[in-house]
Formats: sequence, structure tokens, C-alpha cells
Amino acid sequence: MKIGILISGRGSNMAALVDAVRNGEIPDSEVAVVISDKPDAAGLVKAAARGVETIVNERRGRTRQEHDAETVAELKKRGVDLVCLAGYMRLLSPSFVQAFPNKIINIHPSLLPAFPGLDAQRQAIEAGAQASGCTVHFVDELLDHGEIILQKEVAVLDGDTPETLSARILEQEHGLYVAAIKKLVAQCSDSTAKPRMPVAPQL
Ligand code: GAR
Repeated sequence: MKIGILISGRGSNMAALVDAVRNGEIPDSEVAVVISDKPDAAGLVKAAARGVETIVNERRGRTRQEHDAETVAELKKRGVDLVCLAGYMRLLSPSFVQAFPNKIINIHPSLLPAFPGLDAQRQAIEAGAQASGCTVHFVDELLDHGEIILQKEVAVLDGDTPETLSARILEQEHGLYVAAIKKLVAQCSDSTAKPRMPVAPQL
């Protein structure tokens, strides 16, 4: 399976995925490319240090569709089968989603459908939630929306700030993202998998 990873910033989830592919925890896979929409994304340095090809594709006044078309072309050129959004802070256009049907997944720092969008950890604290967490899900045309693959709960503690809660959730994100991709790979090789998971035969 060829994986393409999209980032906008720090890239810690991206690094966790690259490392899990490299050490065989995610089997039969290769990270073909890391694409950032921000030229100064710290994740680009992390990817290059791991020997993964990196591309910067800024929006630069183009429409969302034009910007996405270039990203799709770069992914297709490399034969990418699975697109992983890892802190990619843009909503994908319908044509991007349709170019990789059931093959785009995302990680979000809340228990979706609760707290989609920006600052999910702050939203959880301000709502007085006793628990939040993280979710890996298939991507559709809506923000932080689509069929859920795996979730992990993280308690919200008295005195938590967005920063302390974010740090505890992030600790869980890396393992959850790896586990979600392993689950997809396992379903892919399980011929008895239920047709409910359309990604299974396609990966
Ligand atoms: C992660 O917490 C991820 O869940 C979040 O951005 C952070 C990226 O960190 N994504 C979203 O909020 C998507 N809606 P990273 O760059 O270190 O992986």
C-alpha cells in the first residue's frame, strides 16, 4: 500500500506513521510522499530527515479546487492508494474526495461528532466535557466528518488548559492513527470482511 500524507504544521502524527511503516508495525506499506500546504511546516524537516520525499503546494490565490487538483496529481503520479491527513488544516474539495473514494482518512483531537473544527481541545474544556479524546475517520466533503474507524477517550482533568489536554490527547493520537491503518490493512487482506467497509477491497 502506498501512503501519501498531507500536513500543515508540526507533523508529529506524520512522523509516527512513517516510523510505524519503517519498523514494520504497519505491514506491506510505503510512505510515498509528504505534502504540505505551508512552506515552513516543521513536519517537512521531520519527513526529510526520515528520507521521505516532500512537496510544498501552497494555495497562492488559486481556488480550492485548483489547489487540490495539483495535490491530487502529485499523489496519483506516485501511485498513492491511501491519503492520510495529519494536521492538514484545509477542507478538501469534492473533486479531491471523489478522486480517492473511501481512501482518505483523518485524525481529529476530539471524540467526533463532538467538537469538530479548530481548537477542539479548547472547545471540550469550555463545554465542561469530562472526557474528550481523538478520532480517526474516513474523510467526506464535510469538516471532520465521515465514517469513524477508531476512537480513544482521554479524560478532561480539573485545571486542564487547552495545552495540557492537547498534550495528553496527542500522546494517544500517534498510536491510534497507526492502529487505524493496521485495521484497514488487515481488512484489506481479510477476504471475509463485510462489504460495509468499502475501503477493504480497494486498498
Ligand atoms: C493533531 O492534534 C491533529 O489531531 C489535529 O492537528 C494536530 C496536528 O498535530 N488535527 C485537526 O485538528 C484536524 N481537524 P501534528 O502536526 O503534530 O500531527
